[in-house]
Amino acid sequence: MFNKKMLVLVGLLVLTAFAMTACAGPVGPAGPEGPQGPAGPQGEPGQMPAVTDLSCAECHNDTGTIAVKRAGWEISKHGSGIAMIEEYNRNSCTFCHSGNSFRAAVAAGQNFSQVENGATEPGRQDCYTCHQIHTTYTGEDWALRTTDAVTMVVNGATFDGGLGNLCVNCHQARRYMANFVDKTDPTKYAANVRFNTHLSPQADSLMGTVDVAAVLGIEGKPGAHYNMVENTCVGCHFGDGKNHSFKPQLSTCVACHADATNYDVNGFRTAFEEKFLKLEEALVAKGMLIHNEDGTFSSVPGTYDAQAAAALFAWGYIEEDASMGIHNPNYFNALIDAALAAIGE
Ligand code: HEC
Ligand code: HEC
Ligand code: HEC
Ligand code: HEC
Ligand code: HEC
Ligand code: HEC
Repeated sequence: MFNKKMLVLVGLLVLTAFAMTACAGPVGPAGPEGPQGPAGPQGEPGQMPAVTDLSCAECHNDTGTIAVKRAGWEISKHGSGIAMIEEYNRNSCTFCHSGNSFRAAVAAGQNFSQVENGATEPGRQDCYTCHQIHTTYTGEDWALRTTDAVTMVVNGATFDGGLGNLCVNCHQARRYMANFVDKTDPTKYAANVRFNTHLSPQADSLMGTVDVAAVLGIEGKPGAHYNMVENTCVGCHFGDGKNHSFKPQLSTCVACHADATNYDVNGFRTAFEEKFLKLEEALVAKGMLIHNEDGTFSSVPGTYDAQAAAALFAWGYIEEDASMGIHNPNYFNALIDAALAAIGE
């Protein structure tokens, strides 16, 4: 009997336990947080970084690197020219004349003819224009903004001259003779006071591509100063010492012209300048060029036949290139001889 009663009791207990579990209410809220434990002992003090550990010191240090480069740059027109002040706010000028516009346009993959707005403030062609200053804040920032080969705007040719490519983004012609073809008689040219390439045709000179050569019936081609000088513009205008005055370095010339003591190698420059002055006088005598009171010259606006126009354009182009033929000696020599012949000299 006892066993039967016990069995019923145990069965009831099991049922009750099951029922109680099934009916349990929700878990109550957590109790309050206990008090904070005591603070641990203070750690060992950290090391102050030495100034020389900062990457800034890769450039800002006592070797005077920045000051020396700056001194040369300051006397160059990049550092002292005044064209920037007049041209920064014009979209057709600002790429070359204002460093801030150049940086933005190069980053956007634009050339000088594609800029839509002028800058709001002028900027020089300064350290930041050519170098990636304050990008990683290490010595790596001396890297140049761009050294890609350049597709020239006026004639579409490719200039591929090593580090000189940086320069050619700006130092290329803005216009050729073809931009002045007369609207009523296409065999003639309509000259204005700026009948030239602008002062920036140095890349076109190295390559020998300015169209005035074809009008005068001579072939323009690249000379040794494009094909052989390592890094083209930078090779001559900086030299091994990376001189930042932008003056051509005689130490570069002597690698090929062993006897050179100045730029007048083999008397080329003296002879060329004589011919240039002869062309100038002849154009003044013909009334196509005016000698202004301030010593400068300007072309006389008018419509000229192709040969006379080419002589005048050649004069303006040689003047604005400003190397007295040295950028491409054979090409310039042929050009000036043909220009003289074209006006009967
Ligand atoms: C790649 C070399 C280089 C490095 C690295 C570098 N700088 Fe410069 N810094 C320059 C040059 C170049 C200039 C401009 C000098 C001039 O115009 O005369 C300049 C200018 C400055 C100026 C003057 C104000 C200005 O912006 O023109 C300050 C301040 C300065 N740097 C601080 C620093 C600090 C801080 C660091 C490190 C965090 C640093 N630089 C790292 C090259 C460098
Ligand atoms: C952002 C455009 C730009 C770049 C890039 C540039 N230049 Fe210039 N450069 C100019 C302008 C504009 C002037 C004239 C400034 C003035 O007269 O106000 C000039 C003037 C010059 C001059 C005239 C002579 C003098 O006294 O300075 C030389 C030489 C020269 N640049 C060489 C170079 C070389 C070499 C490079 C490449 C390492 C270079 N430039 C890169 C725009 C540029
Ligand atoms: C493709 C680049 C480029 C463009 C675009 C350009 N220039 Fe220039 N400009 C130069 C260079 C390079 C020089 C200086 C060459 C030298 O000094 O031998 C220069 C020189 C000048 C100078 C003479 C500065 C001096 O000190 O003698 C004036 C003025 C000038 N430019 C005005 C303009 C104007 C105005 C525009 C726009 C309508 C313009 N430039 C567009 C590259 C350019
Ligand atoms: C018109 C362009 C241009 C401007 C402006 C310019 N530089 Fe340079 N810089 C160059 C070129 C090109 C080199 C040669 C790069 C090479 O040989 O790899 C160079 C080289 C240097 C070097 C040597 C870097 C190295 O890695 O050895 C220093 C330092 C330097 N520039 C400092 C400056 C300072 C500072 C300024 C401003 C005051 C400045 N540059 C302005 C074009 C420029
Ligand atoms: C073979 C060496 C050589 C090469 C390469 C060279 N130049 Fe020149 N450049 C000269 C010489 C020499 C002069 C004349 C300098 C003088 O009379 O003071 C000159 C003159 C100039 C001038 C006129 C300077 C002034 O005082 O007005 C500019 C601007 C110029 N070069 C820019 C360039 C550019 C940009 C490149 C590359 C496209 C380049 N040069 C390539 C040697 C060179
Ligand atoms: C890598 C070699 C090389 C370098 C560097 C060089 N030249 Fe030349 N240069 C030549 C060659 C080759 C010629 C022959 C003409 C040609 O093929 O274009 C030449 C021709 C000339 C001529 C004409 C000489 C004549 O007898 O008709 C002059 C002037 C000249 N160079 C000046 C310079 C000046 C100035 C420098 C330095 C700023 C310089 N060159 C740097 C290779 C060089």
